[in-house]
Amino acid sequence: MPTTKPVVFIARKLPESIEMRMKELFDTRLNDTDTPMNPADLAEAMQQADVLVPTVTDRIDAALIEQAGERLKLIANFGNGVDNIDLAAARKRGITVTNTPGVLTEDTADMTLALILAVPRRLVEGERILRAGEWKGWSPTFLPGRRIWGKRLGIVGMGRIGTAVARRARGFGLTVHYHNRRRVHPDLENELEATYWESLDQMLSRVDIVSVNCPRTPATFHLLSRRRLELLQPHAYIVNTSRGEVIDEAALGELLEDGRIAGAGLDVFEHEPAVDPRLMRSERVMLLPHISSATIEGRQEMDEKVIINIRAFVDGHTPPDRVLETMF
Ligand code: 8YV
Repeated sequence: MPTTKPVVFIARKLPESIEMRMKELFDTRLNDTDTPMNPADLAEAMQQADVLVPTVTDRIDAALIEQAGERLKLIANFGNGVDNIDLAAARKRGITVTNTPGVLTEDTADMTLALILAVPRRLVEGERILRAGEWKGWSPTFLPGRRIWGKRLGIVGMGRIGTAVARRARGFGLTVHYHNRRRVHPDLENELEATYWESLDQMLSRVDIVSVNCPRTPATFHLLSRRRLELLQPHAYIVNTSRGEVIDEAALGELLEDGRIAGAGLDVFEHEPAVDPRLMRSERVMLLPHISSATIEGRQEMDEKVIINIRAFVDGHTPPDRVLETMF
């Protein structure tokens, strides 16, 4: 019996070498335009494919999943976060979902530290002034930032990325505080000399820098609500490399504008690619275009994971990175 390759639809353009490898292995269909697909085009792709490979910019909601063809059995997400996919709707249709955990942990943690260092030390302002030709030379009163060493870092979400952030942070002399649904293993707590806060509110009111590292789930939508952001001390900074929706972005913009929070470093936004105008004009904010995991090595490893998940699945095995709703 001739074996046919599974039809794999990739929703966004991937690096050339990765697409070539996918073409060798599967009957690969591509979105050559590299613009996020509209729901009608996604629905059409989901009619024809055995496997869909979406990214964070593709919203695979219940309505789309209902329209999927009988043959669609796997959604192999190119990304760690699966908040773009309605997991319950997929389960009801008997569609397996996988993601790419682990391979973007260190890159994302690096970027988190870059923001933690850059915002209090005013790197963006300094660069802008210099490039604009406005720098008059050294002065003792010029651009004083805030010291990192000895400050308290509060990590919201102590999973893989949160832990990698904590390890790095200790090298910069920060003390580690964290809030998580579950307390981490005592060995890890000891290694990091980390303080667990069962109450997020209490932690927020005591730390100097907050780092958001939890996944976006229904429970974490606006976890950093206006009320919680108001608990931050006026000298506190907030950094987010997770998902924009975890923070009430409009409230953050307002509080920054009013000087009630010292600054923010943001790689993700609530309505990407749009950014709240108050954040756009604030000198106290460093804005990055969702690039925390954007390394050549990381993208290759993400693709490896996608391929391994698809291969395992079509060979009749449970794919290694199967995602279940109970994980969140
Ligand atoms: C990815 C991310 O680049 O993997 C994630 O969850 O947020 C990003 O770093 C993106 O999701 C790719 O789909």
